[in-house]
Amino acid sequence: MTQEREKSPVRISLLGCGTVGGGVLRLLQENKDFLGLRAGGEIEVTHVLVKSPNKPRVAECKKEWLTTDPEVIFGDPRVDLVVEVMGGEQPAYDYIQRAIAAGKGVVTANKLLIAKHGPELVEQAIKNRTDLAFEASVGGGIPIIRTLREALASDSVASVHGILNGTCNYILTRMREGMSFGVALQQAQELGYAEADPTLDVGGHDAAQKLVVMSMLAFGASVNAGEIMVEGISEIEEVDLQFADRFGYRIKHLGIGYDRGERVELRVHPALVRKNSVLANVDGVLNGVFVEGRALGPCLLVGRGAGDMPTAVSVVADIVDVARSRIEGQPGLATRGIQLKHRPVMPIEEVETRYYLRFAVGDHPGVLGHIASALGAESVSIEQMVQEGRALEADDAVPVCIITHRCQEGAVRRALKAIESQVFLKGAPRILRIEDV
Ligand code: NAP
Ligand code: HSE
Repeated sequence: MTQEREKSPVRISLLGCGTVGGGVLRLLQENKDFLGLRAGGEIEVTHVLVKSPNKPRVAECKKEWLTTDPEVIFGDPRVDLVVEVMGGEQPAYDYIQRAIAAGKGVVTANKLLIAKHGPELVEQAIKNRTDLAFEASVGGGIPIIRTLREALASDSVASVHGILNGTCNYILTRMREGMSFGVALQQAQELGYAEADPTLDVGGHDAAQKLVVMSMLAFGASVNAGEIMVEGISEIEEVDLQFADRFGYRIKHLGIGYDRGERVELRVHPALVRKNSVLANVDGVLNGVFVEGRALGPCLLVGRGAGDMPTAVSVVADIVDVARSRIEGQPGLATRGIQLKHRPVMPIEEVETRYYLRFAVGDHPGVLGHIASALGAESVSIEQMVQEGRALEADDAVPVCIITHRCQEGAVRRALKAIESQVFLKGAPRILRIEDV
């Protein structure tokens, strides 16, 4: 049986041939010889579905593969494996469901889809004894999904801290070097890092989707993504990067997850991390995931988190795995290892960490006292406080920066509410969390 299968190639069709799809075709061609050996049989591309057939494509994309008609792929029983690299919810969701229902293997890079429909698609794939592989949906080229699913199958994960969005990390790194937010974002787009809609990147939603997917593997958790507190980087100002630096920190955009028994703590936001911590030095488009296993202890994965070739590495690795499982007559084996249980997300008010607070205030006597008393009334204890400069005009604002001891977010929010009504405040307070990772 196995010998017979080895003779026939595994036929794959791509849905999409943009940044990632183009990279996949290039890598399949570049590494053709050893990919066939690793899969146990040849991998043959049959079709490539696109929207605009006349757009320029990578040289490795043969004209005769291109189609705008999905029925060409779904109506062809010889197609073993569908590689979804088109993105978005629809029609990608329908196409993946159709592929699974037809017993075809599926490889996808689509975090939006896996975050929203992952548990149900995994169940459908298990029922149909086929594979659903999604390594590229988190961390671009970093093998985080495989690490959690296979290498750490023996351990229970206590927490994950991830720089999960290459665009945000690129922008924050360039801003630290003096570039404006707008120029840095434009560069990230030109380099192919950003989503078609870059507000998904800078608004934190892309990282939130990746955190949801990662928590499926890390904690076996199926969660309601709407319960996760998500903040992006668009409101980070130069002054915050400077204050963070002065206090000994860097600002990174993080996806954070903790196993909290029946619940999970999941949150996505910019955070201050100590300059000498491992994640503080993961810069540019690099992603980094810091996993704390209960038996293993700390484990760090760092690599390029976006772009055509790094992402293609993950997609093609999945293609090889799924092809091999089919050639060996064991389709669906890897997917069957994913066991999920619904877990509520801990409300943000109950989260405990340290905080960086920045206030723009009028330069009047008693202002610091007011702020300190409001925080004290909620038992929020101050670790460090800095007031910068003096106002030249009576109406000018000066920044006051505070680092708190560990406390509940609910208490900080109540204290800020009390301060917000004070006349000395010249703008909304900035609240950033500090992560000791
Ligand atoms: P992209 O460059 O915009 O490419 C999308 C491709 O899908 C294009 O070829 C487009 O066709 C095709 N397409 C879109 N809608 C279609 C439809 N309705 N019917 C047929 N074809 C359609 O996107 P990408 O950056 O490669 O991203 C693809 C997926 O990978 C997304 O889920 C993304 O989140 C994920 N991802 C991306 C990266 C990255 O670094 N870019 C990294 C990890 C994961 P045309 O070319 O004809 O327009
Ligand atoms: N837009 C994403 C990022 C692509 O910047 O991380 C990788 O998923």
